[in-house]
Amino acid sequence: MSYDLVIRNARCATASDVFDADIGIIDGRIVALGAQLAAGKTEIDAAGCYVLPGGVDGHCHLDQPMNDGSKMADDFETGTRSAACGGTTTVIPFACQIKGDTLRAAVEDYHRRAEGKATIDYAFHLIVSDPTQAVLEEELPALIREGYTSFKIYMTYDDLKLDDRQILDVLSVARAEGAMVMVHAENTDCIAWLTERLVKAGNTAPRFHADSRPMLVEREATHRAIALAELVDVPILIVHVSGREAVEQIRWAQSLGLQIHAETCPQYLFLTSSNLDATEHDGLHGAKCICSPPPRDKANQEVIWQALAGGVFRVFSSDHAPFRYEGTDGKKVGGCHASFAEIPNGIPGLETRLPLLFSAGVLDGRIDINQFVALTSTNAAKTYGLYPRKGTIAVGADADLVIWDTQTPRTIRNADLHHDVDYTPYEGIAVRAWPAITLSRGEVVWRDGEYLGKPGMGRFLPCDKPWAGPR
Ligand code: URP
Ligand code: ZN
Ligand code: ZN
Repeated sequence: MSYDLVIRNARCATASDVFDADIGIIDGRIVALGAQLAAGKTEIDAAGCYVLPGGVDGHCHLDQPMNDGSKMADDFETGTRSAACGGTTTVIPFACQIKGDTLRAAVEDYHRRAEGKATIDYAFHLIVSDPTQAVLEEELPALIREGYTSFKIYMTYDDLKLDDRQILDVLSVARAEGAMVMVHAENTDCIAWLTERLVKAGNTAPRFHADSRPMLVEREATHRAIALAELVDVPILIVHVSGREAVEQIRWAQSLGLQIHAETCPQYLFLTSSNLDATEHDGLHGAKCICSPPPRDKANQEVIWQALAGGVFRVFSSDHAPFRYEGTDGKKVGGCHASFAEIPNGIPGLETRLPLLFSAGVLDGRIDINQFVALTSTNAAKTYGLYPRKGTIAVGADADLVIWDTQTPRTIRNADLHHDVDYTPYEGIAVRAWPAITLSRGEVVWRDGEYLGKPGMGRFLPCDKPWAGPR
């Protein structure tokens, strides 16, 4: 057998094992794992390095239409470029239904936005913001069967939020069809009430964003989402969990045997609410770290670390939501003196997700290498119906692989990143791991600091149903 590519002397890690092997690749797939494989047309020596499945980022926003005049800085080209350079080989952004429009229109529009642009493979989650009878009875079941098998619902944001009755309706569709529902859990009325009081009192600086969304806002909505899912008897995944109070709710639900999955993100390990108070250049500087739920404090970071290590979280995603700081279509869309309530929510993180967790998680001894692979790749692939094609190193899997350099200390600098955002919230953080080589279906897309991918290399992935449906 003649391989297109052989990766020699790889120390492979999956979500369950660590083993040494050569990896033989033909037509973008892994076809052999073993000692002393025959020669390949090309070869890469990975001696001394971990070779891991490429990251699967199950929560990122690319070129998602906004309705406040802002524009996402990354489209499928720059977003997937940035992902590849940071070791992620599959992204799952969101085709977002606009209230009044159909879900189908959102999917068609999103395919047009992605077409010919992605460097790495991609699937779509849906965002259901308008669950009309037609959506519930026809569109959503049909789209799930076509491979759009996961969707996000929001309990806040005026243009996206569903009330409890609507949530029950969409959860019922997920139960009938075996789809996975991601829930943004924050109590919208509490946020609106607090925001109004803060703004009236003139407390409009970015740091007041955190005061408008205290932990109880997230705790209450997390509890309610769990109760609604229990009522319908359907698994859900609570996204971007920020701290102790939501973790306690999720732990409690899991201890009862409920199928409540959870996700956390780099911002809840590496940022605190004091980052919202940054005023280096102008009063709006803290806007660079405005996301929802907001980053909490050091004690909550520790809670999130312990929950990651202890198995409460199933996935670790970026929630990359890219807005430029300078200019008039990003964080400053409301002007230079805008209230926190006018600042688009979300921060970039696709490229830095894996290096941050590898360094502070694996190399600093908080999680082991198998947990790292599970949290950043395998579990997302399983949760969203892409496993075992994605998320593992096995014969038959796509050759989406990352050869890690853990010998070269680096400092994160936005100037070195490949997204189209003019800042990173992680500027100045030291890391000891970065991909030396990223392979997407056997093609080198990042090697020794050079981006080698091309728009259009990435393919759309229809997803399997992630769970069996009702018992
Ligand atoms: O602030 C955030 N997280 N923005 C992105 C959209 C979302 O809710 O995930
Ligand atoms: Zn969200
Ligand atoms: Zn998000």
